[in-house]
Amino acid sequence: MYNILKHAHSGLRWVLLLALVVAIVAGFQAWKRGGQYKKGAALFALIVTHTQLILGLVLYFISPLVNFEEGFMKNEVTRFYTIEHLTTMLIAIALITIGYSRAKRKAEDAAAGKSLFVFMLIGLILILLGIPWPFRGLGGGWF
Ligand code: HEM
Repeated sequence: MYNILKHAHSGLRWVLLLALVVAIVAGFQAWKRGGQYKKGAALFALIVTHTQLILGLVLYFISPLVNFEEGFMKNEVTRFYTIEHLTTMLIAIALITIGYSRAKRKAEDAAAGKSLFVFMLIGLILILLGIPWPFRGLGGGWF
């Protein structure tokens, strides 16, 4: 169970990164290029983000890398998964959600696109910073 969730969470990052890039580009086109606001692209990015949140939350309770035992803050890996990964990703997910809802409420395509672009771009940057890429030495893989 743990391994399945871990690999699903790890692999889904790629779908999420791609979905965010597509939504950001769509947002930019609606904002600056007079294109139509693409609700589908935004909604897909939101759904994948929230799926990743659910997987992450379950993992948070079962992963051996998350613990609050004495000295966990001194260990780079346990500190990362217990505090840093959680916090960065929760902020990113909140921004992506806010960007989507604000865009949905805008009457004009350009305003909706701007909201999507700005919020999802900041969310994407935070996610890129919060991922335990293999080169960071935190035990994460590529898939
Ligand atoms: C939405 C953006 C997120 C992305 C892109 C993401 C991505 C990742 C990646 C790539 C790993 C390393 C997996 C591996 O290589 O084995 C990981 C691990 C982990 N993530 Fe996330 N994560 C996200 C959100 C969250 C959230 C919100 C939580 C907690 C509520 C969370 C909890 C965890 C835990 C506990 C692990 C460690 C799993 C283990 O190896 O035991 N993640 N995450």
